[in-house]
Amino acid sequence: MTKDRVVIFDTTLRDGEQSPGATMTHDEKLEIAELLDDMGVDIIEAGFPIASEGDFRAVSEIAERSKDAVICGLARAQLPDIDRCWEAVKKAAQPRIHTFIGTSPLHRAIPNLTMDEMAERIEQTVSHARNLCDNVQWSPMDATRTEWDYLCRVVEIAIKAGASTINIPDTVGYTAPRESADLIRRLIETVPGADDVIFATHCHNDLGMATANSLAAVEGGARQIECTINGLGERAGNTALEEVVMAMKVRGDIMPFETRIDTQKIMHISRRVSAVSGFAVQFNKAIVGKNAFAHESGIHQDGMLKNAETFEIMRPEDVGIAGTSLPLGKHSGRAALRAKLKELGVEVGDNQLKDIFVRFKDLADRKKEVYDDDILALVSATTDEEDHLELVNLKILCGTGGPAEATLEMAVGGTDQSAEAPGDGPVDATFKAVRVLHPNEARLQLYQVSAVTEGTDAQATVTVRLEEDGMIATGQSADTDTVVASAKAYIQALNRLIVRRQKVGPGADVREVSYKEL
Ligand code: KIV
Ligand code: ZN
Repeated sequence: MTKDRVVIFDTTLRDGEQSPGATMTHDEKLEIAELLDDMGVDIIEAGFPIASEGDFRAVSEIAERSKDAVICGLARAQLPDIDRCWEAVKKAAQPRIHTFIGTSPLHRAIPNLTMDEMAERIEQTVSHARNLCDNVQWSPMDATRTEWDYLCRVVEIAIKAGASTINIPDTVGYTAPRESADLIRRLIETVPGADDVIFATHCHNDLGMATANSLAAVEGGARQIECTINGLGERAGNTALEEVVMAMKVRGDIMPFETRIDTQKIMHISRRVSAVSGFAVQFNKAIVGKNAFAHESGIHQDGMLKNAETFEIMRPEDVGIAGTSLPLGKHSGRAALRAKLKELGVEVGDNQLKDIFVRFKDLADRKKEVYDDDILALVSATTDEEDHLELVNLKILCGTGGPAEATLEMAVGGTDQSAEAPGDGPVDATFKAVRVLHPNEARLQLYQVSAVTEGTDAQATVTVRLEEDGMIATGQSADTDTVVASAKAYIQALNRLIVRRQKVGPGADVREVSYKEL
C-alpha cells in the first residue's frame, strides 16, 4: 500500500515554550532546533519574533543555521508583526510566515471587529505576508468554535490571498475525534481552492484528546500535524509529536501515513526538552515516560521474558530506549527474580530460589524498589555465608588537640585482627583502619548521614556507596554513635563488593549485565 505523506510541524519552541515556566535560554533553543532538524521534522516553528528581542534573535539564528527543515515564525494579523517575523525567518533556506487571528465569536470580540472587518483584515495581512514570503500559513484561532459559514468564508479569503497552508486550530482542546475528522473533510469539500493547499491540524489537550483529534483530522484529509515534544504546551499541552508519529508507525494498517521522523531520536530529544524546559515527563506518559517500557507485575514480567510482544506493541529500541526494564518490586514474580539472579551471575537451585523468593517478597513489601545489592544480600542470607569482614570493637580518640586516632578490632575471614590509624576526623581514621586490615581500591562515591530520631541521642543512619572496577555496592547502618554507624555501613558495603566479585568473577563489567535504565 502506498502511504500518504504527513508533514510534521513542531511548535515546541513557540507554543511549547508558551507554557508558564517553560522558558528556554537562547542556546537551549538553538540546541533543540538542531535536534528537531536532525530528527526529520519538516517545519520548525521557532518562535514569535515580535514577542521579544530574545525571541527575534532566537528565530533569526535558528533560521540561519537550519538544514533541511522549513523555519517558521508566528505573527498576529498586524503588518508590523508580519514584517518582524519576515526579518527573523528570511535567512532560512526555506522560510515560512505563520499568521493568525481568532475567528470565533469570543475571539472576534477582543479586537472588537465585525465579521466583515475581520475578513478584510485577513485578506490584507495574508496578502502582505505573501508579498514578503512564498510560503505562508494562516490559522483561524479557535476554529473549532467558529461558526461554520464564517469559517468557510475566511478560509477561502486566506487561500485567495496566497496562503498555501491552512491550519485549523482546536485552540482550547474542545473538539472530539469524529468532529475533528468531519471538520477538515467538510472544509476540503466545501471551500473553493481547498484542493490546492495543505490543511493542518493543531490540537490542544484540555480533554486529553489532542493526539486522537490530530490523527482523526489526518483521516479527514489534513496532511500537516502540529505538535510538540512531550506534548509541551499551554494548559494541558499540545499533541505530542512522539505519540502521533508512533501511532502512525505502529498502526500503519489503519493509518497508512508516513513521516520523515527518525523515531530512534525520540527519547533523546524528549529528555533534552524536559531538561531545558524544566517540565518533567510524567512516568506513565505514552512512548517517553519512564514506565512506558517497564513491567513490574509478575504476570507481565513472565510474559515479557518469554516473548516481548505479549506486553509491548513497539520495540523500545525504535524510540531510542536501550531496552525493556523489569524493575523488581512487590508485584514481581519468580521468573523475573530468576532472570535477575542469572543476570547477576548467581546460579541457584529450585529450593534456594524458593527461599530467596520468600525473603524477596518480604523485603519488597517494605521497600519500593529492590536493588541488585539487596538481591545479593538475600542470596548471602540464604546460603548462610558468613560476612568476610565483621566489626568487633572500635575506639576513637578525637577532639581539638590533633588528628583523630582509631583503634579497630575486626574479624577478617573469621580471624580477629586489630589496627590503629590516624585520620582527618573520626570517620576518616576509622575507614583508614579498616583499609589497614582489608586493603582495597574501592572508591567512596557517597557518604551520607541522616538522623532518624530527634535529640542528641538520635539514631544516625549512615549510607556508604563504594565503586570498584565498575561494581557498585551500598552499605547502610544505624546507631546512636555516628562513627560506629559509619564503620558498620562501610564494612557492609565492602562485604557486598566481596560477594559481587565472587558471583560475577574478576574483571566482569556489572554495568553491562544490569537491567538497562530507561
Ligand atoms: O492554539 C492556537 O490556536 C495557536 C495558534 C496561534 C495557531 O497556537
Ligand atoms: Zn496552540
